[in-house]
Amino acid sequence: MGRSLLPVLASALLMAGPAQAADVSLNGPPGASSCTGCHASAKIADSVIPRIAGRKAADIVTFMREYKSGAWPSSVMGRIAKGFDDPQTEAIAAWFAAQPE
Ligand code: HEC
Repeated sequence: MGRSLLPVLASALLMAGPAQAADVSLNGPPGASSCTGCHASAKIADSVIPRIAGRKAADIVTFMREYKSGAWPSSVMGRIAKGFDDPQTEAIAAWFAAQPE
């Protein structure tokens, strides 16, 4: 079953490629859209989730590393940070830093 799906998945990925590349400035690098679901770009009143748009990229990277290692306590970020390696984290952090606060 998995075998018969492969060509379909491969062509879907190929088709998605160029469109995603064109949208990078809007949606950010791979993974960034998984952050904005919680760290929304618009201010949400009374949200418990800290805003990270417009923060220094280096600070975001530091937070992600500490969440990942467990050095900084978190409810959800520890698990999320483990899903990203350093280059991915840096790309996402740079994108958030470039967003309006
Ligand atoms: C399920 C919701 C959720 C998602 C998805 C999410 N976050 Fe978070 N984030 C939180 C919460 C809640 C906190 C507060 C710490 C905690 O409880 O884990 C937080 C804290 C942070 C902080 C620390 C900010 C501060 O000032 O304390 C950073 C940086 C951060 N997240 C970055 C990211 C990045 C980058 C992504 C995407 C890879 C991401 N988050 C995805 C919910 C989320």
